[in-house]
Amino acid sequence: MNVLLLGSGGREHAIAWSIAKSPLLTELFIAPGNPGTAQHGKNLLIDTEDNSAIVTFCSERDINLLIVGPEAPLVNGVHDAILNDPRTKDITVIGPQKAGAMLEGSKDFSKQFMLRHGVPTAAYKTFEATTLNQGLAFLETLSPPYVLKCDGLAAGKGVLIEPTLEKAKSSLKNILEDGSFGAAGAKVVIEEFLDGTELSTFILTDGKDYLLLPTAKDYKCVGEGDTGLNTGGMGALSPAPVADEAFMRKVKEKVIARSLKGLQKEGIPYKGFLFIGLMRVGDEPKVIEYNVRMGDPETEAVLPLIESDLLAHFKALGEGKLSREEMIISSKCSTTVMMVSGGYPESYEKGKKIYGLNEIGPESMVFQAGTKEMNGEIFSSGGRVLTVTSVEETLSGALAKSYRNLNKLSFENSYYRKDIGYELANARED
Ligand SMILES: Nc1ncnc2c1ncn2[C@@H]1O[C@H](COP(=O)(O)OP(=O)(O)O)[C@@H](O)[C@H]1O
Ligand SMILES: [Mg+2]
Repeated sequence: MNVLLLGSGGREHAIAWSIAKSPLLTELFIAPGNPGTAQHGKNLLIDTEDNSAIVTFCSERDINLLIVGPEAPLVNGVHDAILNDPRTKDITVIGPQKAGAMLEGSKDFSKQFMLRHGVPTAAYKTFEATTLNQGLAFLETLSPPYVLKCDGLAAGKGVLIEPTLEKAKSSLKNILEDGSFGAAGAKVVIEEFLDGTELSTFILTDGKDYLLLPTAKDYKCVGEGDTGLNTGGMGALSPAPVADEAFMRKVKEKVIARSLKGLQKEGIPYKGFLFIGLMRVGDEPKVIEYNVRMGDPETEAVLPLIESDLLAHFKALGEGKLSREEMIISSKCSTTVMMVSGGYPESYEKGKKIYGLNEIGPESMVFQAGTKEMNGEIFSSGGRVLTVTSVEETLSGALAKSYRNLNKLSFENSYYRKDIGYELANARED
């Protein structure tokens, strides 16, 4: 098969690494990719939001499978563009059409969808500029902390959790009246705060059948002990320790089955990954949000645990044979730790030479994210620069390997959290 993969992060490096192992792969292209993906295929200078350039490339190079890493091209309708062109309409696309991408593209849409189909989630109401006063009054009926979510895509920065009523009211005014989040904040979802343990579940689905991937827990805060600013993610581990069998049975029944049935009922086609962000409240799952693609850095932790051929699963999905597939998942644990540029998620410097990449033993994998290559050497080019993933019998074993190898890597001002997973690894061994 000839494959085109869209994206340029650690997630895409992990996907490229995973499918490069498949005997079904003929040629792999990545747009735009990074020096990590270039180890497994050919990087291309194509804008991931230029649908016509993508369609033309797919047709000229006989692409059989298009895998969309990030959400933006999906919300931008790349899958629809492929289907609408007679030259490319038979290509399998991993990632939903625009209609399905609304599950991530609009928080208000996804909350309404969950409500319509009985998918457990926090109680909520949605407000816009014309209903600001009702929104302020609604806040008064809730108790702290207050959860405010911009409706549209806001690069992971559109959710505010405010400790006091005063702050919640002023944030709501800022978003709706002053437009502090632009178009993404034209509507705001205000919802009940869920007190519990967060985890992520992922399925690969054709809209009817699905394969369940390993679960994950990610670490969003930049500082140790989950302090400081929110980031795109500082590390992840898989499986999530709170995802025991009884709990996952509930997730399948109350969340996954109802979500897929809802898509079918509404006539929304869906092919690709569905990432379901959950809060475990007591013993019950509640959906925090849907994402219409894999997470980053969860992908870097999850894919190394999949022992079956991911590309074969994609192929089966395209042929309508997903129900015959079985995803084989290792019983081991996987951890990934992100190395970032000092200062991230605020301002930081780029262009720092990365040392030690050739010293990482086979016990760990480096997935590159914000890197670039110059004259055969690798430099930082973003906030999140690379992740180190390890797989072991225990979480603490995997973490020890990851940290041993992170120690061999460096660039000026590099930083990583030293405490990923420790609270859980210790709890498990007790
Ligand atoms: N109702 C809620 N109760 C408690 N925490 C929440 C709630 N909704 C969101 N959060 C927290 O805020 C984070 C971001 O919210 P989410 O809906 O995932 O938005 P996004 O990923 O688009 O920024 C979640 O990962 C979770 O930690
Ligand atoms: Mg989220």
